Amino acid sequence: MILEVQDLRLAFGGVRAVDGLSFSVGEGEIVSVIGPNGAGKTSAFNCVSGFYKPTGGAVRLAGEEVTGRRPSAIAARGLARTFQNLRLFGELSVLDNVRAGTHLWLKQSALDALLHTPRYRASEDQSTDEAQKWLDFVELRGDRTGLVRHLPYGEQRRVEIARALARRPKLLLLDEPAAGLNHGEKAELLALVRRIQKLGVAIALIEHDMGLVMEVSERIVVLNFGREIADGPPDDVRRNPAVVEAYLGRDADDEVHASGTGCAGEGVDHA
Ligand SMILES: Nc1ncnc2c1ncn2[C@@H]1O[C@H](COP(=O)(O)OP(=O)(O)O)[C@@H](O)[C@H]1O
Ligand SMILES: [Mg+2]
Repeated sequence: MILEVQDLRLAFGGVRAVDGLSFSVGEGEIVSVIGPNGAGKTSAFNCVSGFYKPTGGAVRLAGEEVTGRRPSAIAARGLARTFQNLRLFGELSVLDNVRAGTHLWLKQSALDALLHTPRYRASEDQSTDEAQKWLDFVELRGDRTGLVRHLPYGEQRRVEIARALARRPKLLLLDEPAAGLNHGEKAELLALVRRIQKLGVAIALIEHDMGLVMEVSERIVVLNFGREIADGPPDDVRRNPAVVEAYLGRDADDEVHASGTGCAGEGVDHA
């Protein structure tokens, strides 16, 4: 297993955002985490990636316990993530945003950097080449030398994924990557997720777009009120009465719809 989450708990005052959650992600697997707004999906990802310190439970990454460690330490163990609300460096160029990802593994000494030695310049060239490669990989359109905040929203989302990939992760956490994308962009995101999986990178995906989730996931974990209410292959989860109930609240006469790529939109937000 690349990721094992065991009895994870996170409380904000009296609110139990994550309330005894256990799930795992195998090597190279795509696992989606779904659930109504406020179910605790982002909180769980924040605990896994070290942005929040869990109140209880354990997180293991590639067999090593990383519970409560700092984000940088967890990133160095092979985890990269994107954010529900983009967190790019708006005042840096597109290229420099992705180059920032490479500095996780690029070996540079402060002295070489200070003195601008040939060794330092060579490693900066390597960083740039690698960043260009990932921007090609995500099929970024538009100018790579201009400020990232000047790109359209959908392109900024790609830059964030490119930056995460530039860290060379074993596991990538994506928090609502399809939010705000149009139909065509969602189809491209689906293809991109598949290309990432082909690299051997495992993916944990929080997503509201059921078309995308049903299409791409090997397994789906469903959260409600910080707890797991289902965990299984898409076809099982779609027919699970507890899942239908959580999404639809009252009339459980409908299943969670899966249609082609990216058509469910934000339709699962509130019961
Ligand atoms: N930083 C925070 N401080 C206080 N409460 C929070 C914080 N982050 C999330 N919550 C609460 O935790 C619960 C789960 O939120 P969240 O993890 O964002 O859910 P989801 O991503 O599934 O929509 C919600 O009740 C939310 O209001
Ligand atoms: Mg969220």
